Amino acid sequence: MLTWDDATETPKTGPAITLPKAQPHAAVVAQAVAGATGLESLEMGARRIQVDDKKIINCRADLNQLVPFKYKWAWEKYLAACNNHWMPQEINMSADIALWQDPSGLTEDERTIIKRSLGFFSTADSLVANNLVLAVYRHLTNPECRQYLLRQAFEEAIHTHAYQYCIESLGLDEAEVFNMYREVPSIHDKAAWSLPFTQSLADADFHTGTQEADQRLLRDLIAFYVVFEGIFFYVGFVQLLSFGRRNKMVGVSEQIQYIMRDEAMHMNFGIDVINQIKIENPQLWTGEFQAEALRMIQEATELEIRYAHDTMPRGVLGLNASMFNEYMKFIANRRCAQIGLKQLYPGVENPFPWMSEVLDLKKEKNFFETRVTEYQTGGALSWD
Ligand SMILES: [Fe+2]
Ligand SMILES: [Fe+2]
Repeated sequence: MLTWDDATETPKTGPAITLPKAQPHAAVVAQAVAGATGLESLEMGARRIQVDDKKIINCRADLNQLVPFKYKWAWEKYLAACNNHWMPQEINMSADIALWQDPSGLTEDERTIIKRSLGFFSTADSLVANNLVLAVYRHLTNPECRQYLLRQAFEEAIHTHAYQYCIESLGLDEAEVFNMYREVPSIHDKAAWSLPFTQSLADADFHTGTQEADQRLLRDLIAFYVVFEGIFFYVGFVQLLSFGRRNKMVGVSEQIQYIMRDEAMHMNFGIDVINQIKIENPQLWTGEFQAEALRMIQEATELEIRYAHDTMPRGVLGLNASMFNEYMKFIANRRCAQIGLKQLYPGVENPFPWMSEVLDLKKEKNFFETRVTEYQTGGALSWD
């Protein structure tokens, strides 16, 4: 354990580093991309920011001034996310370690689910984080949304940390688990589906401001917030939470509870952003674009159902793959409704109503009888 009194090691001498030549100030200013910093130059005496100056994309107002708030939902989510702060090491993994090491503790099918889930999630959160930081952040031109994005980026780091912590606790082969998206087709296919959406936006020459470019941004937001975080995580969530419901792998299951709470908020933030872009730019939401968004959700639903079959060739934990056919269609309908699209699979029911209870934080305490709902950080304490 480090303390602040520990002497720091003397840094070893490395290869000489060549620093770039200092650039003249004017050249630096000329390189600033409008919209990314919101500050092409710092003009003395410029008038103060008004709420109406703010726009969610293609804003030309100063992006370094958080207030006045225009999108209160973004600020409220930032505050709620900070109040939900948690760290993976706070969760006791000893029962999981004992169960995993007991040769008769779990069936082979149960072990497959644990390993495949960790295999998918361990790289999925890095994909999401890279999309946020390298692709989305630059193009959402609103400081309160960026404040939430910064918080979300840290939460994605915590999630990757949580998976690494589970993998390390159980003594799994790290290289095998982290490389599954290059080795297991059903995991590979979900990651590969998402990549083109982020790659086109991460291009340094990409700028919003045209119909085509703004639709590309909207497509990326749908791919990552609605599909990746809103569809691709859900078979894994149900499977891992099902262990906890049977009093197995309770530490992994609790990690997933915290992660799912965060992810639900990420998705809801993304949906608010998408809907706000639609309100401010209705010309983007053409019939053709809506058909494309529906196609994306349908493809993703089929990939997620295939993933369920691949991770669960036989019934286990009271679940079977065909239940996920219905569940993923139910989830897809919800996602469609949340961004104003017609339902893809009318009439399907939710075979896992308990999932809604897990997401409802007020009921969570009775569900697992853990401290999830009561856990609050110092920032949330009242001084009254
Ligand atoms: Fe995450
Ligand atoms: Fe997320």
